[in-house]
Amino acid sequence: MISLNNKRILLGVSGSIAAYKSAELVRRLKEANAEVRVVLTKGGAEFVTPLTFQALSGNPAHTNLLDTETEAAMGHIELARWADAILIAPASANFIARLAQGRADDLLSAICLATSSTVAIAPAMNQQMWANAATQENLQQLKQRDILQFGPGDGNQACGETGPGRMLEASQLAAHVAEIFETGLLSEDTVLLIAGPTQEAIDPVRYLSNRSSGKMGYAIAQAAAEAGAKVILISGPTSLATPPRVERINVRSAQQMFDAVMQHVAHSDIFISAAAVADYRPVRIAGQKIKKTEDTLTLELQRNPDILAEVAALKNAPFTVGFAAETENLEQYAREKLARKGIDMIAANLVGEDIAFEADENTLLVLTAENKQPLARASKFILGRQLIDIIAKQKYNVSI
Ligand code: CTP
Repeated sequence: MISLNNKRILLGVSGSIAAYKSAELVRRLKEANAEVRVVLTKGGAEFVTPLTFQALSGNPAHTNLLDTETEAAMGHIELARWADAILIAPASANFIARLAQGRADDLLSAICLATSSTVAIAPAMNQQMWANAATQENLQQLKQRDILQFGPGDGNQACGETGPGRMLEASQLAAHVAEIFETGLLSEDTVLLIAGPTQEAIDPVRYLSNRSSGKMGYAIAQAAAEAGAKVILISGPTSLATPPRVERINVRSAQQMFDAVMQHVAHSDIFISAAAVADYRPVRIAGQKIKKTEDTLTLELQRNPDILAEVAALKNAPFTVGFAAETENLEQYAREKLARKGIDMIAANLVGEDIAFEADENTLLVLTAENKQPLARASKFILGRQLIDIIAKQKYNVSI
């Protein structure tokens, strides 16, 4: 079963009889957990109605470039940014020609120009149109621009002819879309990751904790799995679902997290410390619920182990990546932490009332001793992928 967990797929439908298969494709993509938005060209909408795609995708289908209402709701630039990947299926001979020319005179072509995400086409046309030198030259140009091509298949065509030009089946296309995200960058590695908050017990019903949601750590775990790594996620209490292919170990306290890390670290190549580990825990955990008999109550706290620093200090330490959450002097404090904890890389971000912790988006400043790379505001899933990319390149000594 393929996974497109948390992926945003923009499906472009241009004018070809194969558009009927795209309705099925939306279902396959949704089954793989993708969020899907459909953009139809004028020709595409002649074959299958926008309403069909709206009902199947659960999102409004987009058709017009110069329509004030749709532009106000989600304009072409927003759609271009929204998509993690764009698949044009079917891609007609005409649309392929327009893409090759870099046209922007309808919504779908404008989105393809405005996106920085991967674009793929699933050609569908009569076998003569496919074989025509003009089409082949256009395809060559698209290839040079890193536009992926899925298919076409060979066989009986709707026009009664036989040959190449059949759009691939929906399940094949969904599998190809999933492959876009499988980078294989860390296929040799085991990644050990800690994420979420910790809870430090005060008595059987109370604890000290923090506002960490775990979203950033879980997004990195997912990106690491997509990069082909074996991923062990040691997680404090969160309400998040375990990403596919990730082995999750649940813990509550910093001490339990530390013990779980020490148990698994020897077999790990990369350690990523995205957890908001409580720095202190109560010295004594009351055996029974503490009663409110006194006017004041003093909790005595003691330091928790610094998991990241302890891992970095190990004799055969893995490649270690820490996080720094700061309210000011971001780069300076993060650099100090990088040096003090003796780690290989640190991802720093500003935190405050409404930023970072519970949000779905973030910005990061990734630092190594020699390098600095700011990552612009994006969803935590995109940042997770970018961070895994940087880690892989740094670990395998490719300059960033
Ligand atoms: N960390 C850890 N164990 C702890 C505390 C923090 O592994 N007991 C890790 C976090 O997961 C994060 C990094 O250390 O990757 C930075 O944590 P932070 O608490 O910001 O750093 P401190 O060194 O505690 O500095 P300060 O609290 O003074 O900002």
